[in-house]
Amino acid sequence: MQPPFLSLTLKFHNLFRDDLLKNETFNRMYKNLVIYYFSGTGNALTAARWITKSAALKGLNASLIPVDRFKKPSFPSQEGKTLIGFLYPTHGFSLPWIMLKFMLVFPLIGKQDAFLLNTRAGMKAGRWFTPGLSGMAQLLAILVLKMKSFNIKGLLPLDMPSNWISIHPGLNEKTVELIIERCRSIVENFSEKILTGKRTYKGLLSLPIDIAIIPVAIGYSLFGRFILAKTFISSSDCGNCRLCEKRCPTGAVKIVDGRPYWSFKCESCMRCMNICPTKSIQTAHSFVVLIFIVLSFIPYSFWLSAIISKYLPGAPAVASNFLYDASRWSFKMLFIFIAYHILHFTIKNRSINNFFTYSSLTRYWRRYMAPGIKAFDFRQKE
Ligand SMILES: Cc1cc2nc3c(=O)[nH]c(=O)nc-3n(C[C@H](O)[C@H](O)[C@H](O)COP(=O)(O)O)c2cc1C
Repeated sequence: MQPPFLSLTLKFHNLFRDDLLKNETFNRMYKNLVIYYFSGTGNALTAARWITKSAALKGLNASLIPVDRFKKPSFPSQEGKTLIGFLYPTHGFSLPWIMLKFMLVFPLIGKQDAFLLNTRAGMKAGRWFTPGLSGMAQLLAILVLKMKSFNIKGLLPLDMPSNWISIHPGLNEKTVELIIERCRSIVENFSEKILTGKRTYKGLLSLPIDIAIIPVAIGYSLFGRFILAKTFISSSDCGNCRLCEKRCPTGAVKIVDGRPYWSFKCESCMRCMNICPTKSIQTAHSFVVLIFIVLSFIPYSFWLSAIISKYLPGAPAVASNFLYDASRWSFKMLFIFIAYHILHFTIKNRSINNFFTYSSLTRYWRRYMAPGIKAFDFRQKE
């Protein structure tokens, strides 16, 4: 039996606590959600749409903004608390350059709550769903956003169906369906937390592996992505509809001499290859092999070491090693650029074109586009 004064105090206390809790939830609640996304084949866009749907159900004003060919990042002025999301695929264990650039030039808007979601290469082996690898796809973004005073509330790597069809066939419909269903429920749980102001950092679970593969990620960002940009060709089936040029997120595809040409701005996001109505865009695998063979026969390493030791005889080992590596890779890049130029003009010849088309694995492989996503979803706004 409690003395009457104690029961009264407890009642007051509970009343006060309930009010506090209500206030806390109220303060945490967002009024707006702004999602900036980059998506090659619709996986990140699909995840963005799931989150937006959950936000709309909670009564938030939600905006979905593609970063494709952005000129100046804009932040819509809104009343009330706003949560900002950045969604993008993982490319070469890093984030696509266009997304990194977008974050770097994003205006300083003070302490804002934000979350990151990077889609990765999800696959299925028997009964098991296999994950992709983030590398520095989140770590680098965290660094940039922290520099911009963002308050990071959530990190989610999401293993959507892999779209990297230059290196493997597109997944079959059933597998895609199962992976998508799994991801949808992961995103729904994530949205439930993030939209109500809770913190969730699933992305940190693979931190040791992510840190270990950072050197590979740096190699991809400095060289890999430029090399990949020079592996695309269009076959003789190309109807010159220019859809690849119109829908390219970075404006990297140009029509040169009546056929698409991929410049170094290409992110290898796989969009052009997968939206092409005649399936005429291929990865020229035999060109890659040819380049590899020729480069392994050119004695450029010998020349470079000779030049460095002649002109910088007393340079410390670290400096000459760095110079050697930098000039070796610059030479390779220049070589690939020239060889790709030659390829572009020689495939005008039907027999040469057929050789590179029919020796390409993508000619025989299934394509990939996230279910329900069409080329129209990637139209560029004026
Ligand atoms: C060029 C390229 C590089 C990729 N690198 C990785 C990677 O390092 N790790 C990974 O898990 N997935 C990687 N992927 C797979 C994509 O990140 C994954 O399929 C993603 O869900 C695609 O999303 P999107 O459709 O929004 O572009 C890569 C795909 C491409 C095309």
